[in-house]
Amino acid sequence: MEKFIINGGHKLNGDIYISGAKNAAVAILPAAILADGPCILENVPMINDVSVCLKILSEMGADVKMLNKSTIQIDARHIRDTVVPYEKARLFRASYYFMGALLTKFNHAKVSMPGGCALGDRPIDQHLKCFKALGANYSIESGIVEITADRLYGTQIYFDKITVGATINAMLAAVKVDGLTILENAAKEPHIVDLANFLNSMGAEIMGAGTDVIKIRGVKKLTGTQYAIIPDQIEAGTYMVAAAAAGGDVTIRNVIPKHLEPISSKLEKMGVIIEEHDDSLRIIGSNRPYERMNLKTMPHPGFPTDMQPQFAALLTLSNGTSIITESIYEDRFRYVDELRRMGADISVDGKVAVIEGVDKLTGAPVKAADLRAGAALIIAGLCAKGVTEIEDIFHIERGYEDLAAKLRAIGADIVKREFPGPDAMRIAM
Ligand code: EPZ
Repeated sequence: MEKFIINGGHKLNGDIYISGAKNAAVAILPAAILADGPCILENVPMINDVSVCLKILSEMGADVKMLNKSTIQIDARHIRDTVVPYEKARLFRASYYFMGALLTKFNHAKVSMPGGCALGDRPIDQHLKCFKALGANYSIESGIVEITADRLYGTQIYFDKITVGATINAMLAAVKVDGLTILENAAKEPHIVDLANFLNSMGAEIMGAGTDVIKIRGVKKLTGTQYAIIPDQIEAGTYMVAAAAAGGDVTIRNVIPKHLEPISSKLEKMGVIIEEHDDSLRIIGSNRPYERMNLKTMPHPGFPTDMQPQFAALLTLSNGTSIITESIYEDRFRYVDELRRMGADISVDGKVAVIEGVDKLTGAPVKAADLRAGAALIIAGLCAKGVTEIEDIFHIERGYEDLAAKLRAIGADIVKREFPGPDAMRIAM
């Protein structure tokens, strides 16, 4: 079993370089199946979700080559297999993007229901509704979704709720159909725009990504391309909060500041000083407690749910009472008990957490319940007095490349250590 051991209380100073976006990469890699030639992808984060995705592609018959540490070439012309089995699909949530990509390419996909991280109920009804509207039929048996179509055709789809995954799957499924598809009430996250840009660089005709109406005119052919994935908004946000919480002066490099505005504006409201440059942000932490704050998670451009646990960790040490309302997931407060073990004063009632600021956190043995819950514990550990040992760190490594090394380079005392005993079962988001 591996753990992160953090000796808290060190200020952070220096530069930290942000990797490519996980949630863009896990959509763009399956999309490479659609190209009639090799795709070269740059700025690919080397995280566990990407490794699993690449493994699925190779096992299906794609030729996958690492050109350097963050550049991959995928030639999917020889893929014949249209099945993603349970053992792989359960490892990460985004395995459902193989449904849209395989359906478009082969008019057939057989993909196990995605493994779900415990954030509450996470249905895929909106994904299936899109496939059906485009002319496909589906069945679900023994946990496997099988989707087939004789022919797919353009249509108009209104999402009953704003969903990142179904918006992406609809784009993947509609990109080569006959005619025009219009997606309404679409999600607007930066990785949706990134997938649209990637597909357009292959010859697709997608307009409006980043707004709530996306129009996709089906094309006959998509070619190979060379494309750089956007920087990870949530990795950047996590280090911004870490720098603010631990104090010090940190420059976060390789970012798109516009994507970070929902995060920067909240930090500034609490009293963190942020200097914006073209592709970097400088975070200057304070020695005094930050101001309390209320926040509510919302689809982009609202405050991202994927930053909610990290902000909760920061607010445990703020001045006064803060209220967090989680409006995307039913159950994204599974880090609260762990923060309490470190001295935080948090109470939860349904989708609302009330945080009373305390003077200090103290190190403790804790467990990461999921990826961003783990990120919250890292932040708490960096400012706690004493040693924090974090278990189940495979959750964290699904989404953060070289986390300990990046934090050590800016002055944190954090190491990854092997201990006897197995990791808990690896399920993913
Ligand atoms: C994506 O999940 C991200 N994952 C999540 O990142 C992120 O939290 C989420 O979007 C919201 O931004 C990936 O991109 C791989 P949704 P996704 O579809 O696509 C409900 C992280 O920490 N819903 O936007 O699964 C759903 O239950 C992770 O990096 C339906 O009801 O999220 C949820 O309440 C965690 N029916 C809400 O919509 C559907 O068919 C938003 O889900 C689909 C979703």
